[in-house]
Amino acid sequence: MTRPSIATLREWDRSHYWHSFTPMADYEPLIIERGEGCTLYDIRGNAYLDAASSMWCAALGHNHPRLNAAISAQLGRLAHCTSLGMGAEVTVRLAKRLADLAPGELSHVFFSSDGSSAVEVAMKQALQYWCQSDTPQPERVKYLSFGQAYHGDTIGATAVGGIGRFNDLYAPLLCEVVRVEPPDSRQVGSEPSDAQRCVDAALQRVERVLEEQASQIVAVIIEPLVQMAAGMLMHPPGFLRGVRRLCDKYNVLLIADEIAVGLGRTGRLFACDHEGVTPDFLCLGKHLTAGYLPLAATITTPRIFQAFLNRTPAEDRTFWHGHTYSGNALASAAALATLEEFEAHVLAALPAKIEQIAQRLSALADHPLVTHIRQRGMIGAFSLGASASVGTDGSTGKTENADQAPGRRLARYALEQGVWLRAKPDLIYVTPPLTISADQIDRLFDVIAAGLEFASAG
Ligand SMILES: Cc1ncc(COP(=O)(O)O)c(C=O)c1O
Repeated sequence: MTRPSIATLREWDRSHYWHSFTPMADYEPLIIERGEGCTLYDIRGNAYLDAASSMWCAALGHNHPRLNAAISAQLGRLAHCTSLGMGAEVTVRLAKRLADLAPGELSHVFFSSDGSSAVEVAMKQALQYWCQSDTPQPERVKYLSFGQAYHGDTIGATAVGGIGRFNDLYAPLLCEVVRVEPPDSRQVGSEPSDAQRCVDAALQRVERVLEEQASQIVAVIIEPLVQMAAGMLMHPPGFLRGVRRLCDKYNVLLIADEIAVGLGRTGRLFACDHEGVTPDFLCLGKHLTAGYLPLAATITTPRIFQAFLNRTPAEDRTFWHGHTYSGNALASAAALATLEEFEAHVLAALPAKIEQIAQRLSALADHPLVTHIRQRGMIGAFSLGASASVGTDGSTGKTENADQAPGRRLARYALEQGVWLRAKPDLIYVTPPLTISADQIDRLFDVIAAGLEFASAG
């Protein structure tokens, strides 16, 4: 088959491909033909270091031999079978593996195809749990979420999100959510006790809500440690543990949305591991198949699962929810191979990379444009310029004349130099594949450093 010309592909892209989270009036086609390791190649043959891991999912880079082999082998056996009343052998093995790895008692895995659906599943299971618990509590219909949370784009997940640009228009469709401001590492001063004070104040805000409303609240939903879409907002240590403690005290369920921060991104397999926390629901996606195939998981405890079992033939406690591709066999094979690769090579190599990123970030501290350098594992970020005030929505581009904002200028410069950064007006972040090499980390930060000069010259 002859490939259409570059000009034709660009024209088709503009005319027919409606891209996610993209202002289409300004869309400038960037058409990727192939990937190799941490590098993407466009149809012109230009190479780009994938510094955002294709939006936080390509944990092992691209065209990874172990993943390719696992998917090919599975393809020769079974691509897909339904999860309604049956399931693929490879998916059974994946469920067992996830149950073994997940913190604490988390042991029952419900599969879906994307992170939003995994959140939706947790929200619905939690609500149904209260309706079916020994003392039914159908009056629990609200959720508690944090500030500018992002949990996905289906209607339930949108409701618990807090980024106005993504939510406001759909308000009539959304369930009731109580929003509490999270602690923000950018607000922490230099005194050693400041972080604790910041965490304590946020926990008090949570407790005030729970004191009054716990009996109406289904669950607290949290992005553990880092609210990535909120502009790489990082919680100081202790917040997650404190939230778990309050959920226990007020008998509210805890949903940990680790779709972005889970499976190695923070330096450990699960973000909850940093604080010894077991949530009632753990949502995974993105890294689960290293971005190869759509798969997400909602993992819960025996206590929740038991409430869904019919005790008499007349009862109907079933979770009437599912997706055509739930537990897809090819995706399950990709996930098992990803977990094997994490354990064999990836996790052990992370500390050195995290340290290198820390050093390269701190070397930027003196630049006049740079403020609020922050890092959690393989997530490194800093704010840019005067507009980098706390509370700025780093994910939505609300800055005046955003196109000329320093972050956008820096990202354009980086693209010319062969580094793909997701452009934000007042935020630069790196979330590279976990397999990034030391040389690639250096190149990434060399380009960012030069990009800062470019952005300040404008
Ligand atoms: C924390 C978090 N939750 C949920 C989602 C939604 O996942 P998906 O885009 O796979 O639906 C995302 C996506 O970025 C996310 O970052």
